[in-house]
Amino acid sequence: MDIAKVDYDGLIPNNVGLGQDPRVKRALEKWHPGYIDWWKDMGPEGFQESLVYLRTAVSVDPKGWAKFDYVRMPEYRWGVLLAPQHEGRKIPFGMHKGEDAWQEVPGEYRAMLRRLIVIQGDTEPASVEQQRHLGKTAPSLYDLRNLFQVNVEEGRHLWAMVYLLQKYFGADGREEAEALLQRRSGHADTPRMLGAFNEKTPDWLSFFMFTYFTDRDGKMQLEALAQSGFDPLSRTCRFMLTEEAHHMFVGETGVTRVVQRTCEAMKEAGITDPGNIEAVRKLGVIDLPTIQKKANMHFSLTLDLFGNEISTNAANAFHAGLKGRYREDRLKDDHQLESGTYPVLRLIDGKIQNEDAPALSALNMRLRDDYVADANIGVGRWNKVISEHGIPFEIKLPHVAFHRHIGEFANIHTDLNGNMLSDAEWEKRRGEFLPSDGDRAFIEGLMQPQFEVGKFASWIAPPRVGIDNKPGDFEYVKIADA
Ligand SMILES: [Fe+2]
Ligand SMILES: [Fe+2]
Repeated sequence: MDIAKVDYDGLIPNNVGLGQDPRVKRALEKWHPGYIDWWKDMGPEGFQESLVYLRTAVSVDPKGWAKFDYVRMPEYRWGVLLAPQHEGRKIPFGMHKGEDAWQEVPGEYRAMLRRLIVIQGDTEPASVEQQRHLGKTAPSLYDLRNLFQVNVEEGRHLWAMVYLLQKYFGADGREEAEALLQRRSGHADTPRMLGAFNEKTPDWLSFFMFTYFTDRDGKMQLEALAQSGFDPLSRTCRFMLTEEAHHMFVGETGVTRVVQRTCEAMKEAGITDPGNIEAVRKLGVIDLPTIQKKANMHFSLTLDLFGNEISTNAANAFHAGLKGRYREDRLKDDHQLESGTYPVLRLIDGKIQNEDAPALSALNMRLRDDYVADANIGVGRWNKVISEHGIPFEIKLPHVAFHRHIGEFANIHTDLNGNMLSDAEWEKRRGEFLPSDGDRAFIEGLMQPQFEVGKFASWIAPPRVGIDNKPGDFEYVKIADA
């Protein structure tokens, strides 16, 4: 079959030939009702009957794979879509480098591979659960639509991982697929697997920070898995990355618009000191220092997702050819890392300092470094908006040791520059670095829905262009049909 074409006839749109694969087709059809129940229970609250202007993937070729139309979310066509197979693809790294890429699971790596897929899979429904209450306070129909687009695509990413489990891992895979529907973000007994995915996303600034910082961790993980020697995983992740780009767009432009509105309001009111928080807040916008605190929180929580700086699991997954480095295919070295070192930031004799570690053990650190560089690009764009308004303020990512719960710095406290603080100093100064109860209450107070067509809440600027080039007065969500 033509891989770029998607078969839309059955219950599950796909380009993997499900029609000719009755075992997997049955397994997925059996899983489907549980998924829909999960979506209705844990998906966007209050808008399940609304008509939402969503894009659906109708082919996986680079041009025009997206089709836009009004859809009720529970009727969204969640499908199984893989990027095209590269003829003759070889395993690009690790001890099997140069051998043919695996089309079936290599027996000796079965457990490791399953674990990688389950961990990735678990993050997808988790973020939908974290964001489920946000619809009620959306600052515009445009933003409401973007939230739902991200949500349905995270749902599709769950399908992507569940397909791999059902197709390649037999009974174990079916069990894992069930368990993915059972865990719940933030639940005391059955939480999601990773810390940042059990945190709350209480307001829209958090949502934009989450999609900017935490979806970007998703991008890095998917980039590393897209290099995998297990070809179906590689192809799945390559297609997921095209969707992921939109999530980070929502985050980056979301924060940009918040920053822009704040700067405009300050200028109009003649406020030049960004530290004059009270005066700025009176304008109905979010002051820049509070935006910085939100960034501090989401950045530090996301860094924990990269795991321990020195990691045997990461070394094993690379050595086995299952999980590569960020853009492995563009790196110029032996792709085996049997020798060589990488500088790792560690806590040595009570000081934060670099130490060379075997490159293979330092892969989490390396991926995190690549992430920080990538995350800094958008921050630069936010700062450009601020400087264009002539306001003396710069948003900065905190030091990687700041506010960490996993890895080298889990047991220390630092300020934003990585200077160590005693427990007492930390308790005293915490509110300087992270949103305080007062900050949270202020932001929550601003979160009033704006559902009038073409209108935006006081604290956020309209986007430059509409989705699918729609005009400013386009009705992205028809709530009235609910
Ligand atoms: Fe995702
Ligand atoms: Fe995402």
